Amino acid sequence: MKTDLVGISGQKKEASKEMHSMQSLNRQDSLDFNREDGRATLILTFTLCNVGKIELSKAAKVFEMFETEIHHFETRRARKSKNSDGDLDVFVECEIRSADISILIASLKRVAENVKTSREDKVPWFPRKVQDLDNCHHLITKYDPNLDHGHPGYADLEYKKRRAFFADLAFNYRAGDPLPHIKYTAQETATWREVYRKLSSLYPTHACTQYLDAFQQLEKYCGYQEDNIPQLQDVSTFLKERTGFQLRPAAGLLSARDFLARLAFRVFQSTQYIRHFSSPVHSPEPDLCHELLGHVPMLADKEFAQFSQDIGLASLGSSEAEIEKLATLYWFTVEFGLCKENGSIRAYGAGLLSSYGELKYALSNKPEYKPFDPEVTAVHPYQDQAFQPVYFIAESLEDAKVRLQNYAMQIKKPFSLHFDPFTSSIEVMNIPQKVKRTLYQMKEELKSLCLALENLS
Ligand SMILES: [Fe+2]
Repeated sequence: MKTDLVGISGQKKEASKEMHSMQSLNRQDSLDFNREDGRATLILTFTLCNVGKIELSKAAKVFEMFETEIHHFETRRARKSKNSDGDLDVFVECEIRSADISILIASLKRVAENVKTSREDKVPWFPRKVQDLDNCHHLITKYDPNLDHGHPGYADLEYKKRRAFFADLAFNYRAGDPLPHIKYTAQETATWREVYRKLSSLYPTHACTQYLDAFQQLEKYCGYQEDNIPQLQDVSTFLKERTGFQLRPAAGLLSARDFLARLAFRVFQSTQYIRHFSSPVHSPEPDLCHELLGHVPMLADKEFAQFSQDIGLASLGSSEAEIEKLATLYWFTVEFGLCKENGSIRAYGAGLLSSYGELKYALSNKPEYKPFDPEVTAVHPYQDQAFQPVYFIAESLEDAKVRLQNYAMQIKKPFSLHFDPFTSSIEVMNIPQKVKRTLYQMKEELKSLCLALENLS
């Protein structure tokens, strides 16, 4: 899961195009991230270089993809032309779903230069309640079996059909729906069996205690067996009872902003398909083996669950630069993290715990180890095509959590956020009354905990 942002394709929408005089970007309107209908008005300027049919259609495609309603579209010869008379400055005033703004801007930057919006440096839209997660579903096209020639299932029409079935389930899912029950094929079960057998032989010597404890419970209560692929609904119920985490189906790799936002609500987006049978030991993209064997056991641990939610909370309303850093932190911890345990080193990262080869490699004497320090880790180059050259070791999961919380506090935002576990919603602490109300609730809770302690002593 990294930050290569590409939007899913959307339905074409008729755009109204009018030509008027160029307007200033200092207008008052542009983006109201609190609008009730989840839409925002956005003003954009950008430059198209050496404009021909292809450049124009690429830019138009971006607006089509996000079902943008264009209110005003205007061009004029570029003022600071780098190349020639062929460069155009473009002004667009449009209406778009608030959740799509960041990804539209990121996509536009791929086809145009000098992309500017009057509010881009302000607060990007973020979900406030679990139901809002229905509005973020951006997939990145990386590793898609339909598009990526290197994908093991690229030439397998049956596999691509099966993947389309899973993608439909994920796209049609809405918060509160039961998780789809899947009848897995004999071939899928055989792939799962091979992965399960190989990996479970390594866990006793390579996985951290928290993982081993949860894995045992999952075998007992959730159908974790080599001949059975567990159902997401059973696993989600299991996690909900232990740490409040719940699962939601995903069609594939998501954008970093969307994926991290879900963690803030203790929602983990999980794929439901199995990797291609021709490559059981390696999958270029997340699949159910990765989710169930890598992520799920750790999400059953309270400390780790809090760590995951903290990354998610830190991501809400953060800038693109901060999202990139948080995604890198996630990469080196939740995916590839190691921790100390009784004088030895054990794995807690899902990318390791779901990869036989890399799990062995990470705990051999070959890679370089560095202590987990969020400031350093967040900007360290990562590797998503081969084994990591460096792994970061946490003193303990609790220590990693505290360090991350300190790091998150340094992220500059014009507001603070509070997660209300009773309503599973995010409250923006932007006025003193809200902070006072929450403090009062906490004081009440502390009072009853102190009383409980007194009774015990
Ligand atoms: Fe993952």
